[in-house]
Amino acid sequence: MAKNGDIERTEFALPDDAPRAAGLGEGAAGKPPVRNPDLDARTTSEEQDVETSLRPKSLTEFIGQKKVRQQLDLVLSGARARNVAPDHVLLAGPPGLGKTTMAMIIAQELGSSLRMTSGPALERAGDLAAMLSNLMEGDVLFIDEIHRMARPAEEMLYMAMEDFRIDVIVGKGPGATSIPIEIAPFTLVGATTRSGMLTGPLRDRFGFTAQMEFYETEDLTRVVMRTAGILNMNLSADAAAEIASRSRGTPRIANRLLRRVRDFADVYAGGVIDVKVAQSALVVFDVDEQGLDRLDRAVLDSLVRGHGGGPVGVSTLALAVGEEPSTVEEVCEPYLVRAGMVARTPRGRVATAQAWRHAGLIPPDNAPGL
Ligand SMILES: Nc1ncnc2c1ncn2[C@@H]1O[C@H](COP(=O)(O)OP(=O)(O)O)[C@@H](O)[C@H]1O
Ligand SMILES: [Mg+2]
Repeated sequence: MAKNGDIERTEFALPDDAPRAAGLGEGAAGKPPVRNPDLDARTTSEEQDVETSLRPKSLTEFIGQKKVRQQLDLVLSGARARNVAPDHVLLAGPPGLGKTTMAMIIAQELGSSLRMTSGPALERAGDLAAMLSNLMEGDVLFIDEIHRMARPAEEMLYMAMEDFRIDVIVGKGPGATSIPIEIAPFTLVGATTRSGMLTGPLRDRFGFTAQMEFYETEDLTRVVMRTAGILNMNLSADAAAEIASRSRGTPRIANRLLRRVRDFADVYAGGVIDVKVAQSALVVFDVDEQGLDRLDRAVLDSLVRGHGGGPVGVSTLALAVGEEPSTVEEVCEPYLVRAGMVARTPRGRVATAQAWRHAGLIPPDNAPGL
């Protein structure tokens, strides 16, 4: 550890309760309940290059998600043994858990080419028809955010998935004719952060659904150590664990926080990252011990103080904190549920005892988790 690092760092050693002091109620009191962009698991365009360099390239290199890896390994090996294209695969789960990475690995493991597109890019059936008719036998077609595909494209996809055939409509009105086109046998890999938004017929046509889960801190620590190795960083194991534990169970966030910590260490600690440096850096970047940010805390605050602990709908909560419902539903809520603060019920979201305590209040008798 560089000496001058020690001296300078103390300037940043904020009181122990600093992250907590910036806690619940802040949204109403002072700063707006904005999302800390570092903790938003969705990717940014500037980040994509560095992410590409960090992607594991094989199933064995992929850390965590043991169940999904085992299942996929069987699906792929079975298909390879029978020399056929494997079943279509749906990768479901919150952003940043490795769905795109896994799609690339599937193609890699099959020795196939990967064609990538996304639901929002498939506005018209013709967009999809162009993509499908250019596929070669055995190709893997990856459709990211598949729940956002336009309806006509989705209907065309049903037939392509099932029969490797599509009908292209030529002309308009009574004179329109449909021309059948054969599609080379391919494997569709779809990714979605909202599997509930997929229509039944689409979901039914996937032979296998891989449900990606938030990572345990132990696995995330390995992700951080791996990234530090690739980027040639000087990082201690307990610093890696510290970063991992605040990363919302999400590799994308872990890698991003690691880069923030490296910036801090380069300036204040001669590039050496021990646990103290990591902690000081994370305080500077406004990341609390549980990886919650102001928006999460505002959502909890609204649920507990504004709605008596619920049940309340996600859109009501989103309105209360001034965020897009999709952000609250895809980014905040899954992690609050996983952290045991929010329970989903048929009538809406409910604050658990832990959320009440987090808000500094005594949980009512009927709070879940008591
Ligand atoms: N299991 C893993 N092991 C190592 N790195 C991972 C793992 N899963 C994801 N990552 C990293 O996290 C980042 C985000 O992964 P990505 O596949 O883009 O997530 P998603 O498509 O689910 O949003 C990538 O940089 C990737 O390298
Ligand atoms: Mg992705």
